Amino acid sequence: MPIAARESAPCPEETLTRLLRRRTSDLHARLEASLDLLSRPVDRQRFVHVLGRFYGFHSVWEYAVRRHAGLRSFQETRTRLPHLRRDLAGLGLDEDAIARLPPCAAGAEPAGCEAGAVGSMYVMEGSTLGGQLIARALAGVDWLPEGGLSYFDPHGPATGRMWREFQDWAETRAPPARRDAAVAGARRTFEVLEAWLT
Ligand code: HEM
Repeated sequence: MPIAARESAPCPEETLTRLLRRRTSDLHARLEASLDLLSRPVDRQRFVHVLGRFYGFHSVWEYAVRRHAGLRSFQETRTRLPHLRRDLAGLGLDEDAIARLPPCAAGAEPAGCEAGAVGSMYVMEGSTLGGQLIARALAGVDWLPEGGLSYFDPHGPATGRMWREFQDWAETRAPPARRDAAVAGARRTFEVLEAWLT
């Protein structure tokens, strides 16, 4: 379900997340199509692979974001690494196998400056919205670990509230003068993910 293409003209009262959505919708649609996670039958090996690659991304990207003192504490509350460890263990990987998963070196790139890192956080927090759809599509699949794959739906029923909190927080972290840098960070995040995941 690709996000509808938005008009490209800038609007002075646009919120940061609306701007980011408008300026990345092409890359979201491309990643969603190339990931192709929802085609049937839903293949266990494919999800093991994709979650392992997400693990490699988060294990670099989260620490790159935390290098910015103003972002650290918020990012720590949204870490997805425990979800990935739990899901991968539920799919049969032991601790050693998880520790051996290759890190995504390019995962640090989108978080080079603070505004860019905020843009990249938009991408990863936003993925919890589409992730709910993925979690719902997986329900009932026979190889699913108990409780499902929490990476895709880390906030559960709190998703809407967590998203609104992120939107308000992000607005304070990327002032208007830094919005182009935030857009660049968000776009780079989608590009790095597409190259790494697909
Ligand atoms: C099969 C894969 C995916 C599907 C089916 C999917 C689907 C969706 C859907 C339905 C939404 C809500 C759109 C709306 O409110 O109009 C959404 C939002 C979003 N998704 Fe995905 N998505 C997928 C993968 C991803 C991935 C891998 C990422 C990035 C890691 C991502 C990033 C986002 C972002 C940033 C938003 C928020 C857009 C906003 O600002 O409202 N999505 N996705």
